[in-house]
Amino acid sequence: MAKRVVLAYSGGLDTSVAVRWLQEERDVEVICVAANVGQEGSDDQAAWEATRQRALDTGAVAAEVVDCRDELARDFLLPALKANVAYEGKYPLVSALSRPVIARHLVAAARRHKADAVAHGCTGKGNDQVRFEVGVRALAPDLEILAPVREWGMTREDCIDYAARKNIAITATKEKLYSIDDNIWGRAIECGEMEDPWAAPPQGVWSMTVPTAAEPREVVVGFEQGVPVMVDGSPMAPAALIAHMNAVVGAYGWGRLDMVENRRVGIKSRETYEAPGALALLAAHADLEDLTLDRDLHHEKARLEPRWSELVYDGLWFSPLRAALDAFFDESQRFVTGEVRLRLEPGRCFVNGRRSDWSLYDYGLATYDAADNFRHQDAEGFVRLWGLGTQVQATRQAIPAGIEPGGRP
Ligand code: ARG
Repeated sequence: MAKRVVLAYSGGLDTSVAVRWLQEERDVEVICVAANVGQEGSDDQAAWEATRQRALDTGAVAAEVVDCRDELARDFLLPALKANVAYEGKYPLVSALSRPVIARHLVAAARRHKADAVAHGCTGKGNDQVRFEVGVRALAPDLEILAPVREWGMTREDCIDYAARKNIAITATKEKLYSIDDNIWGRAIECGEMEDPWAAPPQGVWSMTVPTAAEPREVVVGFEQGVPVMVDGSPMAPAALIAHMNAVVGAYGWGRLDMVENRRVGIKSRETYEAPGALALLAAHADLEDLTLDRDLHHEKARLEPRWSELVYDGLWFSPLRAALDAFFDESQRFVTGEVRLRLEPGRCFVNGRRSDWSLYDYGLATYDAADNFRHQDAEGFVRLWGLGTQVQATRQAIPAGIEPGGRP
């Protein structure tokens, strides 16, 4: 039985109640770790200090805030960008990418505080429990994992009553709003009226993509080996660059997703997301690959990308396959260096120009004007040989008219 547990603490209703519940029902000392992954308001140091203090007031024996923003960007978001992340063709894995970095810090805190368990506030119905637990087990197979919210069987109202009874300071009210999870890569908004897949998301759910800009503009993103390093000529570190793109692109009201998605636990759920910076950077990065990647490499990479997104969605960040795929993707980015120009208009963001010193686009080969240096006579023989097998097959195995395909000739 665990004696000391490190809890992933957000300061919200569930994790606040969890601090006390773990102490009273599981008889453990609780150490709270709050991860700054770039949530809304994450620049407010006083607010983080208040969160830490609230954890202590609730009964935690220790409480820490860890700033994971640079680590999240460098070790998780940049690989996601190189992998052109898109679960089920759309979702850029906002929540799924923050869980492994939080797991890393839970394990580090468990070691520092000589704890024998970690805990999280996820329910039993979602993907995040999978990501936390599989992540922690990969990094520290000896640690026990506690999931109070999955065990306690309290409704939201029960939790609010519990907090009132135990004098736990909370801000939640009984009126159920949305379940929100956000970080520098974007924001996931679920529940409430959106649980009906036919219902349009209410305007109030959006916060990163509230349209405020009316004047169209362009923004040039500079990449070095697949990593965005500059915006409009100013060098920026990854986390700052992503935050900057969120602000610039979000102001045009672009970067929203509304989808029905397959969770790992077998539930289809209606999910809405906003990720203006991520989606703009993904569009720009993929476009630069179109210009600089060799055809075979490009096509093979495209076949592997969905597998990467699926693995990471499914909580297998710390897996040998993900590491091997990343090695392949890193190698593929050797010449993905150059600039992409994005055009922003109200409600729209699209690529309208790209250039690279390593471009494989050859004007002399591509042009139809006088500068054309393509050897047209080569095409005739090429096409004849390319179609030779087809021609032989069609001649020798011609299906007589009137016989259905698949029928005997
Ligand atoms: N469905 C998304 C995912 O599985 C978002 C999860 C959001 N988490 C949350 N606690 N609201 O990655």
